[in-house]
Amino acid sequence: MTREKRGDLKGINVAAFESRQKDAVARLIEGIGGNAFVAPSLQEVPLEDQTETYALGERLAAGAIDFLILMTGVGTRTLLQVLSTRYRPEQLREFLKNVVLVSRGPKPAAALAANGLSPTIAVPEPNTWREILKTLDASHSLEKKTVAVQEYGEINRLFLAELAARGAEVFSVPVYRAALPEDTGPMAELMRRIIKGDMNVVLFTNSAQVENVLGLARKEGIAQEFHRALSNTIVGSVGPSCSTALRERGLRVDYEPARPMMGALVAGLAAEYPNLLSKKQQSIFRGTSEHKAPRLNDPLLNSLFLRACRKEPVERTPVWLMRQAGRYMKEYRELRAKISFLDLCKNSDLSAEVTVDAAHRLGVDAAIIFSDILLVVEPLGFSLSYGKDEGPEIGSPFREEKDLDRLRIVDVHESLGFVLSAIRKTRAALRKDLPLIGFVGAPFTLASYMIEGKGSRNFLLTKKIMYEAPAVWNRFLEKITDALIDFAAAQVEAGVQAFQVFDSWVGCLSPEDYRNFVLPHSRRLIQGVPPGIPVIHFGTQTTGLLPLIKQAGGDVIGVDWRVELDEAWEILGDVAIQGNLDPVVLLSEPAEIRARAKRILSQAGGRSGHIFNLGHGVLPATPIENVLELVRAVAEMSARK
Ligand code: CP3
Repeated sequence: MTREKRGDLKGINVAAFESRQKDAVARLIEGIGGNAFVAPSLQEVPLEDQTETYALGERLAAGAIDFLILMTGVGTRTLLQVLSTRYRPEQLREFLKNVVLVSRGPKPAAALAANGLSPTIAVPEPNTWREILKTLDASHSLEKKTVAVQEYGEINRLFLAELAARGAEVFSVPVYRAALPEDTGPMAELMRRIIKGDMNVVLFTNSAQVENVLGLARKEGIAQEFHRALSNTIVGSVGPSCSTALRERGLRVDYEPARPMMGALVAGLAAEYPNLLSKKQQSIFRGTSEHKAPRLNDPLLNSLFLRACRKEPVERTPVWLMRQAGRYMKEYRELRAKISFLDLCKNSDLSAEVTVDAAHRLGVDAAIIFSDILLVVEPLGFSLSYGKDEGPEIGSPFREEKDLDRLRIVDVHESLGFVLSAIRKTRAALRKDLPLIGFVGAPFTLASYMIEGKGSRNFLLTKKIMYEAPAVWNRFLEKITDALIDFAAAQVEAGVQAFQVFDSWVGCLSPEDYRNFVLPHSRRLIQGVPPGIPVIHFGTQTTGLLPLIKQAGGDVIGVDWRVELDEAWEILGDVAIQGNLDPVVLLSEPAEIRARAKRILSQAGGRSGHIFNLGHGVLPATPIENVLELVRAVAEMSARK
């Protein structure tokens, strides 16, 4: 048994956005010496239109629901109230007799008890949706079952996708929505005090409140300052859904208790406060306001590139190029005459040398480790080769459910150690102020290669599995994502300062398919990248997907030339952007290159958070003089007076 650490909050100002538990939270904070500043930030309004709840009633009456998952006490109570306007209590009990009632923790169970019902399954602590899945997996099969989920606030798509992956038909029932309180004065006042730097800790206690608070900040025109102030403050979140809501909006969570309860949040924060404070002061992901930790004098953290990732002001726009080390370089072609691409990738000395030489020679503002997104395919259990001209090829591709059995759990240190070693060697040889970018392919783009066996135009086989066997699709992507998360963490440990996720082919999907089949996996990957490391989320042909790509996450969104940079920014809102020159422009004349680069810079309009890049990789036919010209031109033309 480990004894729980104790601590107090003496003299510490703790802001909390709470509602129903406003007084209880204030008492918890003050009970251990803290100064509590609590602003009500949500009122629960039953949906005027309860269509979904009535539809649930009809399905229950018809015996067409197998499982009913109850997520919150208030939600369960409201749901039963709404149903009781149509059905008598004994009718309801009859409907629910053969339904597996799953209660997430004690509150839904209490609401059931008040109506003479009891849960079939009570999910144990810490009552997150992961425990719900674990508990169900241990006792029931969901294959071909209909599962209704009572939702609260934001819909948890990852949870729904996990249920669908187990073969269930999922039916979500939103019971109430969370509105802003009538008087938003106290919320606005508390946000202003946070911006002034008066608060040491800020607590969020559910995802709907996160939405409300940040929505109000936007309405009040203080979103940027508020965001920045939060990154200088210790942010506590009660549990995983609330943390997800914060991270999705680009905010870092410093503390989340093991059990999603207010008491655990306040007590845990008190115990960890000294650690959290020193971590925060060393945190590389900091805003610009200067009243807290002094800026560390670290040339990497203060590099143009990382400052732009953090949307801080820079004296000129940083630039680097995807595929900046490659066949367009004479030295690279000479090396490749002696060694195959795969052997080059597996030789950490040579990979490091190629990485460092290209970055130093071009004078760019970041290096990217020389490697390939497909290398992870081999340890996953599939064979990989690079043909002379026809690009990569994967032997015996993934086609059906039984191929799931061929997937292996990847030990990244054992099977991809050469990449980690190349990162360490690169970091040692690279200019000390030059950040190194690590990367992986996104779950969708990797899955598409593993299914098609090679590059594809229409992704017919990929979409066939997605549409016809969604459960197989989701399991496949989950397993790939598990490996990618481990690989990301290992690359960070080996020494990268930023991380890019390449979802190169995702533009072939409709927004609805992206939302249902890709977003939950990409989001889990991006959230799995260790904190403090900015993530660049890149795709091509993504104009119609940009809002969803932003939802999936990333501190920087990479866009290609098929969208105007300013239009992309308009759509994306408050996030950094990387892009977006057409690589073919580099095959034209210097004057043309300058003109086109200038147009992109003027579309960026001096906004903080622009990283200049191509919209896709440098093409092999590109003259190196043109690449050098582009790097010079961006530096000159973007210099701020
Ligand atoms: O950007 C960099 O300089 C870092 C190294 C890097 C490579 N591939 C080297 C490479 C990175 C980040 C990648 C990512 C990658 N690989 C993607 C995503 C980005 C994109 O281009 O869309 C994809 C889809 C792959 C898969 C891949 N690898 C393809 C389709 C090919 C063949 C086509 C081509 O451009 O050659 C590769 C081979 C590859 N990866 C080469 C290089 C330098 C060329 C290999 C050679 O020397 O012949």
